[in-house]
Amino acid sequence: MNQIKLKDKEFKVSIPAEKIQEVIAKMAIKINDDYKDKDVPLFISILNGSFMFTADLFKHIDFDCEVTFLKLASYEGTSTTGKVKQLIGVNEEIKGRDVIIIEDIVDTGITLEQILEQLKTFAPASVKVASLLFKPEAYKKDMTVDYVGLEIPNEFIVGYGLDYDGIGRNLADIYTLK
Ligand code: IMP
Ligand code: MG
Repeated sequence: MNQIKLKDKEFKVSIPAEKIQEVIAKMAIKINDDYKDKDVPLFISILNGSFMFTADLFKHIDFDCEVTFLKLASYEGTSTTGKVKQLIGVNEEIKGRDVIIIEDIVDTGITLEQILEQLKTFAPASVKVASLLFKPEAYKKDMTVDYVGLEIPNEFIVGYGLDYDGIGRNLADIYTLK
């Protein structure tokens, strides 16, 4: 399916599933290398968008680690609301742990900033960020995104966990507006 319609909008494939998987495998090689001597790092996956990326990335990780999920939201329709709500907290022990945040996409960076601020209060040993996608033109912050799968233009996308008003998360490819 090269073209699809979700609600009122038409989309075309922009990142095929094979490319996504290739990018994830490459990112995992770097993460495996960077964390091979660490003591049971904790991955924190940001829901909902990151669930597919987290599952695929996690299968490549070859060191002992834990994963937990945090739910936040800042989007309504196709544009950010600028407001981030924390919906579910993290219960795992974070103090002194090496933490890797897993994000589907970093857009303005508002969500990431909020997460990093909240995390700091739990005194982790280190925090790095792994994001499948990054929109450099939309980015308004200056935190480092340590692992970026692909940089993409400032266009709305959907699929592979990312939604348009709640739908489209099940698509294996990533689509952009036609
Ligand atoms: P930010 O706070 O602007 O960086 O946005 C972060 C969150 O908004 C991401 O984790 C996604 O869940 C969502 N998001 C950003 N860009 C898109 C997009 O193009 N399509 C769907 N969701 C997006
Ligand atoms: Mg997200």
